Amino acid sequence: MARFIDELKRTHRCGDLRATDVGKEVILFGWVASYRDHGGCVFFDLRDREGITQIVFDPTIEGHPLAKDAYALAQSVRTEWVIGVRGIVTSRGGNKNPKLPTGDIEIRAVELTVFNKSDTPPFEIQDEIDTGEEKRLQYRYLDLRRAPLQKALKVRHRINQTVRGYFDSEGFLELETPFMVKYTPGGARNFLVPSRMNAGKFYALAESPQLFKQLYMVAGFDRYFQIVKCFRDEALRVDRQPEFTQIDVEMSFVNQDDIFRTMEGLIFKIWKDVAGIDLLAKYPSGRFPQLPFEESMAKYGNDKPDLRFDMQHNDVTDLVIEHVGGGIPFFKDIAEKFASGKYRKDLPAEIVKAMRVPAEHAAKLSRAELDKLEDFVKGMGSKGLARAKIDATGGWAQSPLGKTVTPELRAAINERAGAKEGDLLFFQFGKEAVVQTVMANLRVHLAKKLGLIPDTGHGGKFELLWVINPPLFEYDEDTNKWAAAHHAFTRPHDECVDMLDTDPGKVLCYRYDLVLNGFEIGGGSIRLHDPEIQAKVFRALGIEDEEAREKFGFLLDALRFGAPPHGGIAVGMDRLAMLLSGSQSLRDVIPFPKTQKGTDQMTDAPNRVDAQQLKELHIRIVEPAAAAAAAPAAPAAPTT
Ligand code: AMO
Repeated sequence: MARFIDELKRTHRCGDLRATDVGKEVILFGWVASYRDHGGCVFFDLRDREGITQIVFDPTIEGHPLAKDAYALAQSVRTEWVIGVRGIVTSRGGNKNPKLPTGDIEIRAVELTVFNKSDTPPFEIQDEIDTGEEKRLQYRYLDLRRAPLQKALKVRHRINQTVRGYFDSEGFLELETPFMVKYTPGGARNFLVPSRMNAGKFYALAESPQLFKQLYMVAGFDRYFQIVKCFRDEALRVDRQPEFTQIDVEMSFVNQDDIFRTMEGLIFKIWKDVAGIDLLAKYPSGRFPQLPFEESMAKYGNDKPDLRFDMQHNDVTDLVIEHVGGGIPFFKDIAEKFASGKYRKDLPAEIVKAMRVPAEHAAKLSRAELDKLEDFVKGMGSKGLARAKIDATGGWAQSPLGKTVTPELRAAINERAGAKEGDLLFFQFGKEAVVQTVMANLRVHLAKKLGLIPDTGHGGKFELLWVINPPLFEYDEDTNKWAAAHHAFTRPHDECVDMLDTDPGKVLCYRYDLVLNGFEIGGGSIRLHDPEIQAKVFRALGIEDEEAREKFGFLLDALRFGAPPHGGIAVGMDRLAMLLSGSQSLRDVIPFPKTQKGTDQMTDAPNRVDAQQLKELHIRIVEPAAAAAAAPAAPAAPTT
């Protein structure tokens, strides 16, 4: 029988012991974070999940016959060996380490065991390391030993517990939904799972529990929540993983405001319980501000504005039209297109936007930096970054636009943007989608450059808001058709229902996003439970009855059997954990994440499977080179 573990049980963790424990005999287990041999004594920093404790091996310690053996063994121990130690808590006297919570004490070891040795790790297990992420992901279990990652995962654990406690106390049931579901075209891209028992057929991995949570409402469960994995085969970004976790919610007999109140309560509780922050100081009413989608697009260029800083956009398209281009050829083009009535729904509108950078910030931008900004916007598909520096008379200096612009248009734009001497104006014009994306990204990029927000992390500021009332449909330029902006079961505003047939682009709906510091952390909607309006929506989308049945048959059936009014939301749990813990990327809060390319560096997934496996699944591989030759290249998507 082994002495440690069987006889000697762990008494404390490595972060527990304080000056009040001096004199106690304790047993600690953990990893050797560092060792120092001071000739006569050996010192270890012993690490476990809760912290670090200093251990001293001194062969002269009296009354402990095993201390000599412990000292001898300690001399052979190296970093990351996993050991057990019995010893006496002793004061460090004048040698306290104020950086460690356990820094007042050390353990004078009287017995030591080595549970296991360790190879020399490929990188040091320290808080700050400059090892590349690829290597860290390859040895993720070692990376996860580091304190910042242990801390991030503890935040995650605490969020999970808070979510469960909150929803349970609010009368929600935690119910599960299948991962292997029916594939339906549209929406996010699905991962497919071939079925051995159904040759040639596939399941899809659920991109969210959406349809099933609605069925729970039809079944009368009234309030559902789930902390659930979702799977999407999309292009990856810092805030996107192919496999991620949602805090998923659905409620019956509620309106949008009821859902907002429920989620505001949850966010308040998470901030309090997990981060010790009382959001009431910032939001005394307990409510988050609400910003209409259209206003968000106009002022910030997207529907997830970062409100930690100002620098709003100004849409000046109407001024450009009014002044027939105001002497600027590009603007004249746009004005003339409007005048000719060319802007139909099948021709994406062109707009002109200006953003003012106040003089105190503008002064910090050198010529070289301004040129770099030009490269930045070109990287997003823009032709360039027109700019103007406002002089003492309101003139546009250092600007090609300034040479030809009429004084009237210049004055009108200056007034709209509130531009004064020394300010900089940045312009974008052209197709709406590109202008919005470029200006939205430029706003954030500049704010980081100017130090208005930190490069990563929250900088101690949390700006939460709801973005509400977006259009139900968006126009798909590829198919020349209206498409559901979110999904086809979102309820339009009652006063917009008549426009479903006549002017679908103007129909607003009960969809909402929860935004934190420029990230969409949640999204949801009030669902359509009325079959008549549902039919109208399908008609506007050009979805025939047969197609609707093929795609959503089971849900349409279910909605005919007394479906209650219902709505819901899903919060991106990983994004929430990332933003709350001030981490750089989702990979810092997901224990075993995928790389930017969707691969797992540690296990080497995805990998090839053997021929027999493929045969059983009735699958034949077309080698990528041949596939590339046969398929046209996909167009590049703009990044927001
Ligand atoms: P939505 O698609 O908006 O809504 O997703 C909800 C939230 O999930 C997070 N999220 C992601 N996080 C990490 N990686 C990803 N690839 C990723 N994709 C989304 C975001 C987002 O706000 N069924 C609906 C919800 C509903 O209507 O109730 C849904 O899935 O934070």
